[in-house]
Parts: sequence; structure tokens; C-alpha cells
Amino acid sequence: MQLSILILAQDKSSVQGLAETLGSAGHGVTVVTRSEDFASSASSYSLCVVESSPPPLEPARVIELLKAAPGGDAIHILGIAAGSSLDERIALLEAGADDVITRPFQPTQLLALVEAIALSAQRVGTGTPGAIGAGTGKRLVGVFSPKGGVGTTTVATNLAVVAAERYPGRVLLLDLDLSFGQVASHLNLQPKQTLLDVTRDDLALQDGEVMRTYAMTVPGGLSVLAAPPSPAFSGLIRSDHIAALIARALDAFDIVIVDAGTAMDDRQAPLFARADTVVVPVLPEIPALNAVRLLLEQLADTGALGSQTMFVLNNVFARELLKRSDIESALDAKITAELPYDSFVYLKAVNEGIPVVTGSPRSAPADKFRALADQLFGASVTGVVDAKKEKRGFFGRR
Ligand SMILES: Nc1ncnc2c1ncn2[C@@H]1O[C@H](COP(=O)(O)OP(=O)(O)OP(=O)(O)O)[C@@H](O)[C@H]1O
Ligand SMILES: [Mg+2]
Repeated sequence: MQLSILILAQDKSSVQGLAETLGSAGHGVTVVTRSEDFASSASSYSLCVVESSPPPLEPARVIELLKAAPGGDAIHILGIAAGSSLDERIALLEAGADDVITRPFQPTQLLALVEAIALSAQRVGTGTPGAIGAGTGKRLVGVFSPKGGVGTTTVATNLAVVAAERYPGRVLLLDLDLSFGQVASHLNLQPKQTLLDVTRDDLALQDGEVMRTYAMTVPGGLSVLAAPPSPAFSGLIRSDHIAALIARALDAFDIVIVDAGTAMDDRQAPLFARADTVVVPVLPEIPALNAVRLLLEQLADTGALGSQTMFVLNNVFARELLKRSDIESALDAKITAELPYDSFVYLKAVNEGIPVVTGSPRSAPADKFRALADQLFGASVTGVVDAKKEKRGFFGRR
């Protein structure tokens, strides 16, 4: 299980060993030294560790405030007691820490405890640790397919354009297809700055409004944060960058739609852990459907996927090759929406850089994108929280 972990410490150097231990086990680690930064981004991490806190707040008070804030219940916290005093341990536990480890400790003790907290969080049904804080009324939607060329970018882009028509200025389309992101070209944008620039700006990683200045705005009110300009830069993006990007995006926008491409590396873990919904476009092709099912089952089993999954059947072939029931049994899940084949409008859209819903607004595919947006975003953003409460299990099953 790979977790995204946020550490609060008075001094970064004092937690270097701790961060290395967690990082070498494959977890994504971010260290902050200000209680405000800790409080504002805690909900986007699988686990928060309070090592020490800058004065005047005591660590126990930091934990108490975090747990009392909206969505605080869903945040999981490990406290670190500086000495063996029982009072210190009790204060941290009473404040709301899930567990406390006392210095000195072995790296293996720390790793075991971190994983135990994450597992028990899943068992008690608070969802995957790091799930979006309830009550925020915000929505994070990832569009992802393990197979390329199935319409992932087409779906993400059209959904984002429809969402921005309804909520101008409140929607961000984030291109996390880190090597071959095509969101900008689907929208005919030539971004001067991309998410790579955000990752190089500590202030933007901490402040949603600063991050917003790196996004381009498309006429109609959609903000777009493009992928790095070339695959050569992809390796520079780390999972803690992605966790921070998502957290800041949700600070500054009400709806965040992510084109996650086909990437299945650990860096996408913060997205899968936190997304409300992952939309998976699929083709009518049995081996590909089987692969999608196995992959998502594995993600769910390891606790990496905390969201509802919506399958969108994309008919990229002119003829109906498989019955819907065959597709659903290969996936072991229901298809939520179906996009019709069209030999013209999708291709015109990508070639002109004008999404289907804008360029061919009365076409059948445009209608389908709007209907899918209705399902995802409802009539208003505030309706989103209720929809999440009613969410079904993985893969659309109850
Ligand atoms: N239902 C459809 N009918 C016909 N063509 C389609 C359909 N859906 C998508 N396409 C076309 O398929 C191509 C691939 O779409 P898109 O770029 O959205 O896929 P992708 O999964 O993001 O691909 P990549 O793996 O390259 O990122 C585009 O040219 C798009 O116009
Ligand atoms: Mg794509």
C-alpha cells in the first residue's frame, strides 16, 4: 500500500530520517513547518504525522484543531511523542491522534504503525485514507484508462467544458498525463506555463490562489493546467507534487477534472485515493475489458482506489461488436454511459482543438457528454456532497 503522508515538524532537518524511512518504503512524503500549511492540506493526504509543531501551538492542540475542522473526522493522524511521558501520549490520543509512537523508535516500527493506521481506517469504513473531506462540496473527478487511445482526453476535456459552462471560473482541468498530455492540444492552447512550473514554485504548491495564476483560462471560464511540455520532464514530477497540486486545485476551484492518461505509476496514488469518481472509458474489446477489471480490482484490494468508478463505453468502432451485457459481464460492472461512434465530430474536434460540446453542440456525442456531466456534477455543486454519501461500492456495485 502506497500512502501519501504529510509531516508537520518545526524543522525539516529533524525529520529527514523519518521522511527517508517512509519514502524508501514507497510512500510519498511532504514535510511542512507551518501549522497553517498543515491544516490546509491535511485532508488530501492518506496520513498526517505530527512530529512537532512551531510555537505557540502544542502538537496536541494542532491535532485537536484539525480534527474539529469540517472533514476532520476523515483525517488520520500519527502523533510522535518526544519522550516516554505517559501524559504526552495521552494528550496526543485525546486530541484525536489515531496512534502515537514514542521516540526513539526503529524504522520498522514506524512503517508498521503507519500501515496499521491506514488499514484500520479502511476497515472502519471511513473510505480510503485521504478521501476528500466530507462537507467541502467540492468534486474531484479523474478520467483514466490503462489502455491508450480510448478517448480519455476527449472525455475529460468535454466534461470540463460542460462543467465550466455551468460553473464559470470554478472548474479546473488538470492534465496529469505526465508524459504525453494532450489536453492543451485538444483545446488548441499553447500554454506558456504548465504544472511543471507549479512544482518549481513552493508558494504555488502551498497556496491555491498562487497555483491558479499558472492555469490558462479558456473562453467560457474553464481553467486549464497543462502537462509538462515534453516527456523529458515527466520524471521531475513526484507524488508529493501531485498531492499538493490536487490539494491546491481543490482549494482554488470547486470542480477539478483530471486527465490521468494511462499512467499507473505510484505518482497517481494521491488522485486515486482522493477522487470522488474515477471515470474509465472502455472500448468494446474483451481482452481490454478483462484487463481493466483486473487492474481496478487490484487497486481496490490494495486500498489505493477510494472512489466510485464509472465506466463509459466508447464506441470507437462503426459497428456494434459486442452486446452491452457481454461488456458488463467482462467488466463485472454496469456501464454508466455510452458514447456513440461518430466518424466526423470527434476527429474534427481534436484537429481543430475545439471540443465536441462547443464545436458540435447539437450532435449526439455532445448530448451524451452533457448527460454524463449531469450524473457527475448534478444540478449544483452543493448537491455533490449528498451524491457522495450515497456512493456505491467499487465498480458501480453496491
Ligand atoms: N466515439 C468515438 N468515435 C470516433 N472517434 C473517437 C471516439 N472517441 C474518441 N475518438 C477519437 O479517438 C482518438 C483518441 O481520443 P483521445 O485522444 O481522447 O484518447 P486518449 O485515450 O486520451 O488517447 P491517448 O492514449 O493518446 O492519450 C481521437 O482522435 C478522438 O477524436
Ligand atoms: Mg489522452
